[in-house]
Amino acid sequence: MIVAIDGPTAAGKGTLARLLARDLGFAYLDTGSLYRAVGLALLRTGHSPDDEAAAVAAARSLGSDLLTDPGLRDEATGNAASRVAAMPAVRAALLDYQREFARRPPGGARGAVLDGRDIGTVVCPDATVKLFVTAAPEVRARRRHLELSGRGEDVPFAQVLADLNERDRRDQARAAAPLRPAPDAHLLDTSDLAIDAALARAKAIIAGRM
Ligand code: DC
Repeated sequence: MIVAIDGPTAAGKGTLARLLARDLGFAYLDTGSLYRAVGLALLRTGHSPDDEAAAVAAARSLGSDLLTDPGLRDEATGNAASRVAAMPAVRAALLDYQREFARRPPGGARGAVLDGRDIGTVVCPDATVKLFVTAAPEVRARRRHLELSGRGEDVPFAQVLADLNERDRRDQARAAAPLRPAPDAHLLDTSDLAIDAALARAKAIIAGRM
């Protein structure tokens, strides 16, 4: 059983996916962390986030050190991730790992929850359940701003909002696996939903498909 969760940045899909995986006893893969790790690899080695050859090489040799690096969550890493995510060769290099995770979840789990941008459309088009999680840009920017200040990153709100709009634009406009809901995805708008309400709604949708 595969639960695919897609949506724009800071819509709450990561938290939702983690809690769903915990409650269902499924393995969880945050696919954004793969793109972030590629972005971080470039920043750390002094490459431009637009250097496609370096990005592909990084994607092919991702190690667990980068995937657990605290710098993964930095704003600069997120922006670099959004740039490398637009490169078809980078996406191709990360595809098999994601599909294999979904097909054979680690630890013998009987299912997997994957979150990202293209899980329901490209990575797992046959997922058992597809959720597309959204929220208004201002709401997402407020959440991202809170998260960043909680980690001591002092970015002005206006800049967080501008970055988020730019990242949305890039994720939606790119030719390779653009961010869009799969035709059979359930839409979940979390603008006015606390996490427990969003979780209850997602569980009701999943229960209907099991
Ligand atoms: O969800 P996130 O902010 O950690 O994702 C980082 C970047 O990676 C974001 O710009 C979109 C991209 N991404 C993607 O293109 N496809 C995915 N499945 C996951 C993330």
